Amino acid sequence: MITITHVFCDGYENSIGLDTPKPTLSWRLASDENGTAQTAYEIETASDEKFSQTIWQSGPIESSQSQHLTYSGPELKPHTRYWFRIRVRDNTGNLSNWSDPIFVEPALLNDGEWGTPFISSVLDTDPNASSGWYFRKTINLSKELCFARAYATALGVYELNINNFRCGNNRLSPGWTNYNRRLLYQSYDITRELAAGENTILLHAGPGWYKGDIAGWIGKRCFYGNRTAVSMLILLAYTDGTREWIRTGSDWKSSPSAVSYAEIYHGEKYDAGIAKSLKNNLLQWTQVEEVSVVSGLRILSQDGPLVLPREELRPKALLRDSEGKAIIDFGQNLTGWVRFTVSGEPGDRVHLRHAEILHPEGEFYTANLRSARQEIEYILSGDGTEEYQPFFTFQGFRYVRVEEYPGELRLDNFTAVVVHSAMEETGRFACSIPLLNQLHHNIKWGMKGNFLDIPTDCPQRDERLGWTGDAQVFIRTACLLMNTTSFFRKWLRDMRSEQLENGGIPFVIPDVLKEVPDTDEILAGSHSSTGWGDAMTICPWELYLQCGDIRILQENYTAMSNWVAYMRREARNEAIWDSGFHFGDWVAIDAKEGSYFGATPNDFTATVFYANSVDILRKTAQVLGKADDELQYAGLYEHIAEAFREEYFTHSGRLAVSTQTAHALALHFKLTPKEFVPRTVDSLVRLIEAEKNHLTTGFLGTPYLCAALSENGRPDVAYRLLLQEDYPSWLYQVKQGATTIWEHWDGIKPDGSLWSPDMNSFNHYAYGSVGAWLYNRVAGISEDEHDPGYRAILFEPLPDDQLTYAESSLNTPYGEASIRWEKLNDSTVRAELKVPVNAKARFKWPWDTEYTHFESGLYRLEKRLG
Ligand code: BGC
Repeated sequence: MITITHVFCDGYENSIGLDTPKPTLSWRLASDENGTAQTAYEIETASDEKFSQTIWQSGPIESSQSQHLTYSGPELKPHTRYWFRIRVRDNTGNLSNWSDPIFVEPALLNDGEWGTPFISSVLDTDPNASSGWYFRKTINLSKELCFARAYATALGVYELNINNFRCGNNRLSPGWTNYNRRLLYQSYDITRELAAGENTILLHAGPGWYKGDIAGWIGKRCFYGNRTAVSMLILLAYTDGTREWIRTGSDWKSSPSAVSYAEIYHGEKYDAGIAKSLKNNLLQWTQVEEVSVVSGLRILSQDGPLVLPREELRPKALLRDSEGKAIIDFGQNLTGWVRFTVSGEPGDRVHLRHAEILHPEGEFYTANLRSARQEIEYILSGDGTEEYQPFFTFQGFRYVRVEEYPGELRLDNFTAVVVHSAMEETGRFACSIPLLNQLHHNIKWGMKGNFLDIPTDCPQRDERLGWTGDAQVFIRTACLLMNTTSFFRKWLRDMRSEQLENGGIPFVIPDVLKEVPDTDEILAGSHSSTGWGDAMTICPWELYLQCGDIRILQENYTAMSNWVAYMRREARNEAIWDSGFHFGDWVAIDAKEGSYFGATPNDFTATVFYANSVDILRKTAQVLGKADDELQYAGLYEHIAEAFREEYFTHSGRLAVSTQTAHALALHFKLTPKEFVPRTVDSLVRLIEAEKNHLTTGFLGTPYLCAALSENGRPDVAYRLLLQEDYPSWLYQVKQGATTIWEHWDGIKPDGSLWSPDMNSFNHYAYGSVGAWLYNRVAGISEDEHDPGYRAILFEPLPDDQLTYAESSLNTPYGEASIRWEKLNDSTVRAELKVPVNAKARFKWPWDTEYTHFESGLYRLEKRLG
């Protein structure tokens, strides 16, 4: 029997704040019979959950499509709730029941509709002040309410309270976009928060990314503006059919808030006495004034997942340092903050500092935070048991040093709150080697720690920026671990909004490095590094492969073409890109002592990534049916490939750049002429053996190293690297106790000493990009490029002697797909497969020459070896 387990409208099961009148619908199916597929579907839209007032019926449509169907009923209207349900027919003629209904509610839809002032306190005049502000208005409800919505945003970060209750659980809203072009607002259903009579509406805001310190090492703040401001519309719909809008304006009042200081990097100071005065209505309220926003700013509905508290961790241990100070160990490097309870006298203080590691001698280590202070100070009101968690900041930490805490320090009073963009966790991986399972854990926590509205390099030091290169190398792994579609779609919008007129791509998105002072020789006036700018092509393509939504390619096509056009102009003879500044194979081990730049020459990496972007663009043109473009880019690719051969291969087939990264890239991106492949593979293996089976690769080589080997008949060498436990290797850091992925292979060196504090993050996901190889090849599950979004699944496990089993499951757009392979004895291996309904799969052992094809269902296969 076929059933519908989930229905999604533009990626969400139930949502308010939709930003389009024509969303897409997708659904997941289940069946207890193998070989089930959909042959027809039917969509119904209604204005009520019971479907008594139907708005539109598609009628039965013969189609197997169950993903990304554009809704083709009447356009959805703003702030109106719609219900959708689906039913399907399967290939045996069975008709499913109607799905459980989901609702969706568009927000304002027309960005011109905002028309609401931004207000700031008249007292907010100091650009260097980092205080929080309350903005307040009381409203009187004299009629019976049918429903009420609030749409709010800030120049800063904010939260909404009504009658002393916090609305929504979203944190650090409106998140971080290019505030000069795009500012997002959040939608709230506030029907239940409002009551008859007087209601107090309170917006609480802090400086955030808008006004606060950004990119600490360039000493810049007020990057977007120097006043914290808020803007909000409330829609009151009454049962008598009338409507009323309430907007922020000069009739609101403001007051400095209990948050006397809040900075993304530095932490927060909170005076609970002020919060108490607020509650008791004892605050002095002052005027607000309207502030202008940059012209052309678009105010748009939240278009990615909200940042939410996602889990909580209890302390693992209470330690003491040499000064006798208490250090709480949460056992996990994480991003978020500490929530605590405390009681004491008015004016007593709690003071906490946060760090990722302890110095090998057991001391609290904060040097690697650079200028980021990550401190919390809380002044007690003295009112019984008080509870606090920060409002407008976040910390990257595992350890918390308790500088001050009145009364007895009990671990029970402290909880770590893990905060990141809300995404469904989709990937699961396990195998018979515990260290590898811990590596997978660390990769996942690297993602949790760095997907906070934008993909960041790290969550702790004075950086936390959307480095394009880092996101590009990690995106494939990220898409396996969690459903990142809305997250990256939003960040790609940010990226497009920052693309330079000449097609160049800034190093970080949002681009806060465009104003670095001239004294910064590397970054001043520079942009478009190879492997970093390629995020503009690689991210849409990877996202499309994983989610199968063609809109991702449509939206990005022009920007992708402009990026390729940029490189084409920069490259010598449109082929070898040997100019400009590049980060190259960043922090590779083959770099010169003390340098961050790996040994692989930049013209080599730049030409490889340029060729790869052209190839992606060719494939994109093909998917979008742009035949002329496809032909043009195919020609350009051939031209680059030929020049590449001329420039980097000797006539007898020696690759002239003798680094692991160069070999891995030339092989993986298929720029090695066919006849030279065996020699190139051999010399890669020799380079690895020369290092006693260790890698030397940096940001650009590492993601492809194992793949280059396994694609070319040397999975044994890939496993040797993966399972290596000595420095440098992935498992070296695991054995050193890492709980996230380090920025440097030698963040903590074998002798216990540390890499320079200048650049030593212990939560940098880039090297976690090997996660894709764990899923795709160790367990053996991946998308099939010819039928993306897991409509077709590729099972190609690579069993190795050192493993007795490996397994992985993915919550694909079609539902759960999984594989488990296991050695039953020396001569038999078994695989168990799960293919979701309406999808298909092909499977191959490394010893097979042909694929076996499967429809949906559960399968078990055994293979006798030799
Ligand atoms: C960041 C990196 C980034 C790099 C540029 C660093 O400071 O942390 O991850 O990609 O600069 O090479």
